[in-house]
Amino acid sequence: MRVARPHVYVALPLPDQSIERVLAACEVTRYDRRGQPSRQELIDAIAAADGLLGSAMLPVDADVLASASRLRVVSNFGVGFDGVDVAAATRLGILVCNTPGVLSDAVADLTMGLIVALARRLPEAERFVREGRWLPGQGVRLGSDLRGNGLGVVGLGRIGREVAQRARSFGMHVCFYDVLRHDEELAFCTYQDLDDLLRESDFVSLHVNLTEKTRHLISTRELSLMKPSAYLINTARGQIVDQPALVDALREERIAGAALDVLEQEPPAPDEPLLQLENVIVLPHVGSATVETRRAMLELAIDNLLAALRGETPQCVVNPEALAARRDAS
Ligand code: 8YV
Repeated sequence: MRVARPHVYVALPLPDQSIERVLAACEVTRYDRRGQPSRQELIDAIAAADGLLGSAMLPVDADVLASASRLRVVSNFGVGFDGVDVAAATRLGILVCNTPGVLSDAVADLTMGLIVALARRLPEAERFVREGRWLPGQGVRLGSDLRGNGLGVVGLGRIGREVAQRARSFGMHVCFYDVLRHDEELAFCTYQDLDDLLRESDFVSLHVNLTEKTRHLISTRELSLMKPSAYLINTARGQIVDQPALVDALREERIAGAALDVLEQEPPAPDEPLLQLENVIVLPHVGSATVETRRAMLELAIDNLLAALRGETPQCVVNPEALAARRDAS
């Protein structure tokens, strides 16, 4: 008797060759336009799906999950899972999977690139060349060394640790704040509470998950603790920073500058005030956007998806307790 193949909805535009394993094992429907499906498109698409493969930025709320009576797994192409109502998924016995680890180097490399760009005023210098200003004294302001400067890492998970190690190799003094690891110190990285880290760091880099506790973790009060010569870097989630408060701090030069790979609203509105400021670098959420990393992420996301559909425990499960909920329900 021919066993029905599981039905999977692939909610992001991917070429056939990149999802061959899914096509070989499953009935697949796909989102094939730019971006990602609307909420209603997603509800309609997963109504009879057993598995969902989507970007880490795809919102999957409790009602969307409840509408998919057969759904067994949401496999995120990315490390973040803040877009998924994980508690609801667990109650429904739906596994939520992500791709931690494989993108840590890419995001940490980008973070160091942003720190160097801020310290050495690279965007400003590049603009000067295009404007025909080259000679010393024609406005190219001096930058600063990294050696001897302080980096404060907020969140010492996989990515935060990679950033700390890189910064140490640049000769930076590194401290960290993390609610989960305050009693653990790396050989070269010392714990500080958040306020002291903000007061003393020359560069503050954010590497925490987005949760209700970290939403607007950095707002007016926290920005006011930073030195006027300090810089804020965010490659985690835009909502960790109170963006209007950051705009005010940058406009009033209460901090020297910022480098953001993520924003509260992505893509930003054309009149987003941040885009009018000179002392901020804004990138389009490219932290994991390298050929090698995105390939590794997709392979891991597919491994997680297919394992869950075979009834096995996937390699990277955010909510393993959902397995018990599923067994109890069956
Ligand atoms: C995603 C991200 O990797 O991994 C994450 O959580 O923030 C992104 O870099 C990318 O959007 C692909 O889903």
